[in-house]
Amino acid sequence: MSTRHTPAPNDLRAFWMPFTANRQFKKAPRMFVRAEGMHYTTSDGRQVLDGTAGLWCCNAGHCRPRITAAIQEQAAELDYAPAFQMGHPKAFELANRLIGIAPEGMEHAFFTNSGSESVETALKIAIAYQRAIGQGTRTRLIGRERGYHGVNFGGISVGGIVSNRKFFGTLLTGVDHMPHTHLPGRNAFSKGQPEHGAELADELERIVTLHDASTIAAVIVEPVAGSTGVLVPPKGYLERLREICTRHGILLIFDEVITGFGRTGATFAAEKYGVMPDLITCAKGLTNGVIPMGAVLATGAIHDAFMTGPEHLIELFHGYTYSGNPIAAAAGLATLQLYADEGLFERAADLAPVWQEALHSLRDCPHVIDIRNEGLIGAVELEPIKGEPTKRAFQAFLDAYDAGILIRTTGDIIAMSPPLIISEAQIDELVGGLRKVLQKLN
Ligand SMILES: Cc1ncc(COP(=O)(O)O)c(C=O)c1O
Repeated sequence: MSTRHTPAPNDLRAFWMPFTANRQFKKAPRMFVRAEGMHYTTSDGRQVLDGTAGLWCCNAGHCRPRITAAIQEQAAELDYAPAFQMGHPKAFELANRLIGIAPEGMEHAFFTNSGSESVETALKIAIAYQRAIGQGTRTRLIGRERGYHGVNFGGISVGGIVSNRKFFGTLLTGVDHMPHTHLPGRNAFSKGQPEHGAELADELERIVTLHDASTIAAVIVEPVAGSTGVLVPPKGYLERLREICTRHGILLIFDEVITGFGRTGATFAAEKYGVMPDLITCAKGLTNGVIPMGAVLATGAIHDAFMTGPEHLIELFHGYTYSGNPIAAAAGLATLQLYADEGLFERAADLAPVWQEALHSLRDCPHVIDIRNEGLIGAVELEPIKGEPTKRAFQAFLDAYDAGILIRTTGDIIAMSPPLIISEAQIDELVGGLRKVLQKLN
């Protein structure tokens, strides 16, 4: 008899879950079986209020009929078209729609399937662009401590989250990091952008002096660092980064995988802060999280630098089988239309002050050492249990789930990013629920 394991229904062993405490999960699984609007339904029939828009991606809420219908229709009409040397109308239509809402100067969209792939694509475009303009010695990439740029080798190399890096060898060479902008001693409980820390951007000047500008291709930052636990840029910080990059011929990449599509109360954070990068990465909200898709937005100057040489030759040796996939493109078009028709980005901006005050009302709760917010993003940082970092916040996550609210934790920080359709009453419900959880926490 074969000893090969045959999975039984509900056998949880085979699926090695991503970024999950697998053994803990499989002892007490948390399963969502359906979703609608602001709520998930669990396998035991409970409603859970979504305080995280899935993973920062379902900005229009769940199972929106227009997106569902667009996917269904596209699947029946044109399921797949080769992405290389062939096209289909919806990919072009979506690229135009995206450029139409992107910050001024962004003129082209390169499609990917995730945030991680958008990051790899942007880093490669940056290095290849420098070569294309005769600056081939510019190959270095500069990231930032505590940065999250997905999980592929380029992204973890420029990223600065230690656990995402330390297990995976020596990573890319020729990478350096600026300091992070978390200054709890000076900025704790800031509402929106903190006052202190613009000078941290000057560290880029030091790095440029160390390596020489002629070796540096690009700097990549999240305008608001999300995965590390929500670090809002200090006032003046992004402006200084922009100025230093421009002065030294270094490209500035904004990783807007979470800040894109209304999350900060503007279409992109670049617009919110009035700082224009050379490349923007996005994903998540592009299709409301429903179908995997990402994009890199590039200025005309970057794109045009590649458009030289004989016309029968490929200009950029990069792309994915599913770049601009028809079903993803249909989902993207329906999503962008829905955002526009319902004015969801404006709604996020209108709700931001209510969100801010609700969140900061948790200041008096036990263990709370900082609260940060921007747009419809929020973080509550807890004092770690001595010798057991992350345990307290993880317990809060489990208790919140039992209490019917979905939050996310990273380290000892609770992060929230609800769908932009959240109502004021649901903000109260989310924050009120979290208050009860925090009050009972050890
Ligand atoms: C800023 C940023 N970049 C990249 C990524 C990676 O995206 P994905 O998980 O779609 O690969 C994320 C995901 O959270 C992110 O927040």
